[in-house]
Amino acid sequence: MASADNSQVAGDAQAGSQATLWSRRDFFGRLGWAGFGLVSLASVLAAMRSFFPRVLFKPDTSFKAGLLSAFVIGEVSEKFKAEYRVWIIREAEGLYALFAKCTHLGCTPRWLAAENKFKCPCHGSGFYKSGINFEGPAPRPLERVRVAIAEDGQLLVDVGVKYRQENGDWDKPGAYLRA
Ligand code: FES
Repeated sequence: MASADNSQVAGDAQAGSQATLWSRRDFFGRLGWAGFGLVSLASVLAAMRSFFPRVLFKPDTSFKAGLLSAFVIGEVSEKFKAEYRVWIIREAEGLYALFAKCTHLGCTPRWLAAENKFKCPCHGSGFYKSGINFEGPAPRPLERVRVAIAEDGQLLVDVGVKYRQENGDWDKPGAYLRA
């Protein structure tokens, strides 16, 4: 009788150890599948992401301003100030465009033809026709924007490309158009 009891106990112990082993196998099996699922999901998401490339679509900042003959030598054209915040200044040797934004705090200056200067209404900064600052708190000249000739012969102005005099940019092509 005692030996039957012993064998019963031994059988229960073996069954218990097998159950523990199987539950561990189940656990690691599920963990493996979960890992596989996560890796697969990440791959699918990465593949989907490639359909949406990281490209910044910038708005076009350039515009055509007409033929050079439309600009009078010695005058400041305010034709594009309202829409593009730009003055176009025609000289005998060529032409340049100034960005109408005060370099103090960003107000829009006015062109005072009688005084031959740009004047900022906010804090009184003054700029020569060239864009160089000469009075008031503005710390530096107005910025120029890119000018070029388009294929059809019109003046092409790009307000997205700026040239700063204090950085020596005004000597670069695009800051001044010889024509
Ligand atoms: S913003 Fe032009 S002088 Fe201050």
